[in-house]
Amino acid sequence: MRRLVGETSLEPRHLVLPAFVADGIDEPRPISSLPGVYQHTIDSLRRESAAAAGAGLGGIMLFGVPREQDKDARGTCGADPDGILNRALRAVREEVGDDLVVMADTCLDEFTDHGHCGVLGTDPRGEQIVDNDATLLAYNELAVAQAAAGAHVVSPSGMMDGQIASIRHALDLKGYQDVAVLAYSAKYASAFYGPFREAVGSSLRGDRRTYQQDPANLRESLREVRLDLEEGADMVMVKPAMSYLDVLRQTAEVSDVPVAAYQVSGEYAMISAAAERGWIDHDPAVMESVLSIRRAGADIVLTYWALHVARLLAEDRGGR
Ligand code: PBG
Repeated sequence: MRRLVGETSLEPRHLVLPAFVADGIDEPRPISSLPGVYQHTIDSLRRESAAAAGAGLGGIMLFGVPREQDKDARGTCGADPDGILNRALRAVREEVGDDLVVMADTCLDEFTDHGHCGVLGTDPRGEQIVDNDATLLAYNELAVAQAAAGAHVVSPSGMMDGQIASIRHALDLKGYQDVAVLAYSAKYASAFYGPFREAVGSSLRGDRRTYQQDPANLRESLREVRLDLEEGADMVMVKPAMSYLDVLRQTAEVSDVPVAAYQVSGEYAMISAAAERGWIDHDPAVMESVLSIRRAGADIVLTYWALHVARLLAEDRGGR
């Protein structure tokens, strides 16, 4: 009866696996704050992407982790065709072809020595700022390099104003009209990104409150969504997921393109840690958390548990 009348479904195709690939390592390196998640070598990433395709996942989202010495103030190695992320994109496309939607994180923070999502500048008073418009030019180069390396989807996550229109235009100019743009539209300045910063070896000091959303605000996020839709976003995203299910629901109501939500590193870490202590039952908690993100309005869920959830679904241990 529950199967007959269940209002929300969860299938592997709804899920996107975020994955990290690091330069200069010989074997996969565990991330201590994300148990079960690794910084991959290109080879182990190939295997992971093949597993993702085999499990019927919808996509994979790649984050590059360069060597410390390759970082600079402008994040130059992001757009380098031989940079780690672009090499990984080529390898993954070679591995999975079109069986999996291959997405790239289109942001500078992994590649800059200061860890910000954009390039720095000074305002007329001499104060240091993240220079929005100078950053757009860098994003255009990143997006074009990722498209050239085989990304089906580029995913600007830096919350700069005008980034969607700018990237869309740059891709079209170079002939990549079929490459889609997934907009991180409502991305909050969140404490739940903590483990991710370890995962990418972030150099950030300070915070991102001048460009990411204030957790107090909903209306402002809906405006960000609206602007990204006007600028040509093919998909919009809300992030994090669990503390922002209201934002997700309202985004789903106004969006006429597919809506994604990102179950971020801190969400994964919390459930994992509680389960490790025996304080929570791991698999049912995971399934409930992902299902509730779907119920709130996400067509697509990015989750580090994507493969695990697919396995539970295949074993009919969906928990309902
Ligand atoms: C920035 C980026 C972040 C995450 C994805 N892209 C971190 C940040 O904004 O500081 C966080 C993802 C997670 O916590 O799982 N490009």
